[in-house]
Amino acid sequence: MLFLLGYCWYLCLVLAHLSGAAWGLAPAGKWDTFNIAPRTKTVYPAAIHSTSGVVTGAELLVGKKGAAALASGSWVTLDFGVEVGGLITLTIDAPSPAAALALSFTESPAFIRPNASDDSSFPAQNTTFDGVLRVDAPLASGRWTQPTYSLRGGFRYLTLVASGGEVTLADVSCAINFMPHVTDLRAYEGYFYALDEGAQDVDLLTKVWYAGAYTVQTNTVPLDTGREVPFAPPGSWANNATLGVAGPIIVDGAKRDRAVWPGDMGIAVPTQFVSTNDLLPTKNALSTMFAAINPKTGALPESGPPLSQQGSDTYHAWTLIGTYNYHLFSADTDWLLDVWANYTKAVAFLEGKVDSSGLMNVTGLRDWARQGGGGHNAEGNAILYRVLVTASELATYANDTALSLAWAQNATALKQVFNDVFWLADVEMYRDNATTTLCPEDANSFAVVFNLTQSEAQKAQISDGLVGNWNDIGPVVPELPDTISPFIAGYEVQAHFEAGNDARALELIRRTWGYMLTTNLSVQSTLLEGFTANGSLAYRYYQGYNDDPSYTSHSHGWSSGPTSALTFYALGLTVTAPAGQAWVVAPHIQGGLPGAQGGFSTPLGWFGVQWALAGTGGLRVEINTPTGTDGILRLPAGAVRGTEYVLDGRAGRFEAGAGVEIALEGGIHVVMFSGET
Ligand SMILES: *[C@@H]1O[C@H](CO)[C@@H](O)[C@H](O)[C@H]1NC(C)=O
Ligand SMILES: *[C@@H]1O[C@H](CO)[C@@H](O)[C@H](O)[C@H]1NC(C)=O
Ligand SMILES: *[C@@H]1O[C@H](CO)[C@@H](O)[C@H](O)[C@H]1NC(C)=O
Ligand SMILES: *[C@@H]1O[C@H](CO)[C@@H](O)[C@H](O)[C@H]1NC(C)=O
Ligand SMILES: *[C@@H]1O[C@H](CO)[C@@H](O)[C@H](O)[C@H]1NC(C)=O
Ligand SMILES: *[C@@H]1O[C@H](CO)[C@@H](O)[C@H](O)[C@H]1NC(C)=O
Ligand SMILES: *[C@@H]1O[C@H](CO)[C@@H](O)[C@H](O)[C@H]1NC(C)=O
Ligand SMILES: *[C@@H]1O[C@H](CO)[C@@H](O)[C@H](O)[C@H]1NC(C)=O
Ligand SMILES: *[C@@H]1O[C@H](CO)[C@@H](O)[C@H](O)[C@H]1NC(C)=O
Ligand SMILES: *[C@@H]1O[C@H](CO)[C@@H](O)[C@H](O)[C@H]1NC(C)=O
Ligand SMILES: *[C@@H]1O[C@H](CO)[C@@H](O)[C@H](O)[C@H]1NC(C)=O
Repeated sequence: MLFLLGYCWYLCLVLAHLSGAAWGLAPAGKWDTFNIAPRTKTVYPAAIHSTSGVVTGAELLVGKKGAAALASGSWVTLDFGVEVGGLITLTIDAPSPAAALALSFTESPAFIRPNASDDSSFPAQNTTFDGVLRVDAPLASGRWTQPTYSLRGGFRYLTLVASGGEVTLADVSCAINFMPHVTDLRAYEGYFYALDEGAQDVDLLTKVWYAGAYTVQTNTVPLDTGREVPFAPPGSWANNATLGVAGPIIVDGAKRDRAVWPGDMGIAVPTQFVSTNDLLPTKNALSTMFAAINPKTGALPESGPPLSQQGSDTYHAWTLIGTYNYHLFSADTDWLLDVWANYTKAVAFLEGKVDSSGLMNVTGLRDWARQGGGGHNAEGNAILYRVLVTASELATYANDTALSLAWAQNATALKQVFNDVFWLADVEMYRDNATTTLCPEDANSFAVVFNLTQSEAQKAQISDGLVGNWNDIGPVVPELPDTISPFIAGYEVQAHFEAGNDARALELIRRTWGYMLTTNLSVQSTLLEGFTANGSLAYRYYQGYNDDPSYTSHSHGWSSGPTSALTFYALGLTVTAPAGQAWVVAPHIQGGLPGAQGGFSTPLGWFGVQWALAGTGGLRVEINTPTGTDGILRLPAGAVRGTEYVLDGRAGRFEAGAGVEIALEGGIHVVMFSGET
């Protein structure tokens, strides 16, 4: 009894720490200082970046302290501190009837210019396609608000330029218009915290987690704020197009494209789940794709309206994988059944492309910007495998046993052919297709993450091979030369974790995401869409972006891979049945971290984990999950030493040198592995 009481005291302390999910929110803690989402939905400049000409009182514009006077031909550049997006309001006083004002916006400090914004309408080599927003003479004195069509969805720096006479400005603010359905942008339902002793900045991993979370928030937008197509003419931009069947809706990027792209959602939606758990924008985006299915062929568009790009077998597949992810995180079976007829038609569309070889012949060639990709292509077929495996599971929720079995059988057959055709035994990686020796980053990462590999050794070989592409700031993509893709690197991070190379996965995060958060070229808050091998902003300079480095997005949800990877792998918490009815805790403790803590929410409640290395080869794990759920604590062979553990005060044993697997019910548990004694 005494023992039990003592134990209860101990548990209660744990409980106080882990259970904090009052009203569905993550517990408060030191991690909150890394949350970069603004505290209010109206934000003011945080600093003056620079002035030019004769500007008096510029500093009074910081935090709304007073007015600044700009002589004709002068300008001031305001710094909002982090990426923001929304409509500017300011107070104007301009006695001269000839006085006019111009506004230019940019994410990167490299494109702060009085006569041009960074580009969003169209990529042009002169980098000045968009131009400025003019407020023409004569200026009306008083409050001015930017017209809604001219919304800039993503920027950090605003330059205000006076011409034709002196202009006095005050009360400059931005009304944030992303996350329109949420009042408190910082009210996350999940969190993550780990000290990164392997990095110069010990908080780097936590910062990266929150940078990814905020990036996806800036991509969550009102329905009528899409980029207009056809694009606005030179010298302008327009963000007032309708993006789908309902809002709010998740798009690819804050500044651009501002459209639904299902491939991007393969990374952005897991980020959304582990951070805000705000899945309505995802449901609206997926519904938009299914509503636009081609009724004759079953083809889904590559992107949402107004772009409504067609002709991508891989992005078609990503809508289907996204359907599984949304259902896994939300358990929204009603919605699944609503789209089921269109979903099955869309799976059949892909299955119809599988020819006598047993592989899909990829003919819808559009993709994430990679080259090649047609015919019997490894990346496309890896994604198809994931479609079939997840479709088989989803069919069980629709009670379609026969279809579930047929898709599972076809998945198994595809896996065999995939290995027969693409595996290069001498290189120990998968090749892109049967007529090349190029071993792509995307297909090899997907093969490990989606379980196309047939042995643990194969995973390790691929993980080793992928490192061959690395330079100081990340993996140079074989299938898109001279490029580092934080989108595909997000899958590579997962692949290294899956292969058991925890330290390597963390090192990749430090290199690529550490670079993005610190380079003075970037917005230093949200995550770049991509960059070149030497770190320049000229992403896709030769592949669609017309050598326009100002067009690159600095806030792209597809680059937030570490956010979910840190939760799912470093912390080790995943859901394996809808909404976490079943879950696994498999912390990756061999990466050099002393510990990690975090968690997320689902409709079933709060899921929290805290682990810390203890003693020599020992480990302490605390787990808190909703009652009525079932889970497993799993550790690979060799992760902990010794043969003993204590689960909630009761002793247990495992085989020396073997993996550990302990079945648990929902509730609060503490497991101690003593290590070597
Ligand atoms: C970034 O730093 C380099 C080296 O100090 C400097 O030359 C460059 O002007 C800086 N770029 C920006 C946009 O601040
Ligand atoms: C824009 O301003 C820069 C100086 O900041 C100048 O070099 C450039 O010629 C101007 N471009 C145009 C199109 O006016
Ligand atoms: C920049 O290039 C685009 C595309 O070639 C052109 O339409 C636009 O007029 C140019 N802008 C300037 C300011 O020269
Ligand atoms: C967007 O705004 C522009 C400029 O005001 C206008 O011409 C256009 O019709 C608007 N488009 C939509 C879809 O409202
Ligand atoms: C299913 O597809 C049809 C077109 O064939 C479309 O009209 C309908 O809105 C779609 N339904 C759903 C729920 O996506
Ligand atoms: C096969 O792969 C190579 C390397 O990615 C690529 O250049 C080639 O275009 C691919 N073939 C087809 C048919 O796509
Ligand atoms: C894929 O289909 C296209 C179009 O029908 C065809 O030209 C091509 O030869 C096929 N590729 C393979 C590898 O069969
Ligand atoms: C599937 O079967 C179960 C058990 O009979 C039933 O409760 C459920 O409503 C069925 N679902 C559908 C979509 O038919
Ligand atoms: C399974 O694959 C075979 C052969 O490609 C195909 O005929 C069949 O339609 C597939 N089944 C399903 C349910 O897609
Ligand atoms: C991976 O696939 C094999 C069959 O090829 C299966 O036995 C195994 O359970 C799968 N692993 C996971 C984690 O799904
Ligand atoms: C970086 O790479 C780009 C694209 O290859 C190139 O244009 C640029 O000159 C390089 N910059 C440096 C500083 O080497």
